[in-house]
Amino acid sequence: MSHAEHHEEGTRRDFLYVATAATGAVVAGAAVWPLIDQMNPSADVLALASIDVDVSGIEEGTQLTVKWRGKPVFIRHRTAEEIEEARGVALSELKDQSAENANRPGADAADENRALDDEGKYLVMMGVCTHLGCVPLGDGAGDFGGWFCPCHGSHYDTSGRIRRGPAPENLHIPQAAFIDDTTIKLG
Ligand code: FES
Repeated sequence: MSHAEHHEEGTRRDFLYVATAATGAVVAGAAVWPLIDQMNPSADVLALASIDVDVSGIEEGTQLTVKWRGKPVFIRHRTAEEIEEARGVALSELKDQSAENANRPGADAADENRALDDEGKYLVMMGVCTHLGCVPLGDGAGDFGGWFCPCHGSHYDTSGRIRRGPAPENLHIPQAAFIDDTTIKLG
């Protein structure tokens, strides 16, 4: 093999290597989309949009996680301390001033506008971090006694409001209502 041929082969190998690497990057990029797309519910999933949840078995100080429209929903039966803590926070301390509550559009982030009942015993929220969508840990996790998202360190208080970390918004509250003393309808 002449020197020129050697050189040519080397060049072609380099080219193949670069081309393969570039293709790999494109494929990786393309593979992310179907995953993201699956997170958007299709029309037929939205059609079976309502579920009834029996909350009689949720002890005070615990939460139930149900799957609704393909996503986790936290239903927490709060303690008196959790309610008191949530209601004692001044609005000015909150990063997101909106209740983010589908049942009260435009309401401010006061705990009274987030809890499902007037007493504030039940808090129903999407279990989806408003940063990049991880599922936060509950049961008093984080620096504010509510929920903590370990993905990038977002702390939510006992009302599910963002208090520290990169998440921009309070945990969202879906359409929900009591249809009798022990049953909550989602959607
Ligand atoms: S996804 Fe929760 S902090 Fe980033």
